[in-house]
Amino acid sequence: MEAVVTGAAPAAETETPFIRIEGVSKTFGTFQAVRDVNLTIRRGEIFSLLGGSGCGKTTLLRMLAGFEEPTAGRIFIDGQDMAGVPAYDRPVHMMFQSYALFPHMSVEKNIGYGLKHEAMSKAQREARVREMLELVQLAPFATRKPHQISGGQRQRVALARALARQPKLLLLDEPLAALDKKLREHTQFELMSIQERTGVTFMVVTHDQEEAMTLSDRIAVMDKGQVKQVGSPTEIYEFPQSRFVAGFIGSITAFEAKVVSVTGETAEVEVPAFAATITARAVPGLVAGQKVTLAIRPEKLTIRQERPAAGNVVEGTVKDLAYFGKDSLYRITLPSGDLVAVHAVNAKRGTEALRVADWYDRVWLSFEPGAAILLVE
Ligand SMILES: Nc1ncnc2c1ncn2[C@@H]1O[C@H](COP(=O)(O)OP(=O)(O)OP(=O)(O)O)[C@@H](O)[C@H]1O
Ligand SMILES: [Mg+2]
Repeated sequence: MEAVVTGAAPAAETETPFIRIEGVSKTFGTFQAVRDVNLTIRRGEIFSLLGGSGCGKTTLLRMLAGFEEPTAGRIFIDGQDMAGVPAYDRPVHMMFQSYALFPHMSVEKNIGYGLKHEAMSKAQREARVREMLELVQLAPFATRKPHQISGGQRQRVALARALARQPKLLLLDEPLAALDKKLREHTQFELMSIQERTGVTFMVVTHDQEEAMTLSDRIAVMDKGQVKQVGSPTEIYEFPQSRFVAGFIGSITAFEAKVVSVTGETAEVEVPAFAATITARAVPGLVAGQKVTLAIRPEKLTIRQERPAAGNVVEGTVKDLAYFGKDSLYRITLPSGDLVAVHAVNAKRGTEALRVADWYDRVWLSFEPGAAILLVE
């Protein structure tokens, strides 16, 4: 299939994709684990598959690696159709969900293990292992055994072992799941820097949305074997296209609403819970009278004790508030009795104006039209 090249398209879009997944499905017996997935992945990007447990992430990776055959559809890596190509002949390395290291082998032996079957001299092999030890900054630990290093260091050994064979594509299944929160954050940045230095395309599976947001150039959000949306972290967060994606990434409060009118880029929307009509950013295909969901994120709402003169304004009462120091989280009761979450940064110091409102205060919430996400799916 030829890509259609238009003059205005950015380079990244017209470049031949490194991986093309076309209509791929996988059925186990009668159970469909992966449903008609279409994805293209660019060379050198960190691409994440994000979704809840059992949504088909590992199954999709296993098909890329060649451990499972798709029931339907085709997979191309670097222009080559992978149908019938065995795992060991693919330019791919998969780092498994539990990246088992050999406990009786030293760090350097673990890293060199995958090179045993490569046509390399002993000296070349040793040079590659040294290079990998430098890359993951583990040279001082080369002769230690896995139980003599930390969890994060073990994770880096597994990564070095995977990169030693110089795959074009590295598949990482929950690479950081075994690490505690602090180490995970640190290791995320290391992964990114290693990816940058090697230029290897990374496909990362995770069910942790923050991890996907931090690591990825692009994310595919999956649900029940299907890809629901593909985009950059910002696109996924700011422009979710369905209730599922909106609710899966970050926190959100959703309300039933009805479109009153659509004018160009904006729509007037009646929101019974707000006892008001508000202005929202329109989405394609919206028509007057249509029922939609209005979704809004806690940090997009501004809370005040005086009524703003204009714009989208909703009245409410403070029901709960949690003070975290640098910020506060409020739960506001709306006229309808519905609750909405508001996240506010506490900018001022000292005792003065630590928080904008107190329990039972009457408050006014306001937001930009662009902050009101309309969802039709
Ligand atoms: N060999 C198999 N035979 C039957 N069903 C399978 C097989 N492998 C996976 N499944 C099912 O397919 C679905 C997707 O599994 P998969 O391992 O891809 O999920 P996942 O998204 O990686 O989940 P997790 O986040 O828990 O690792 C699950 O419901 C699983 O039980
Ligand atoms: Mg899995």
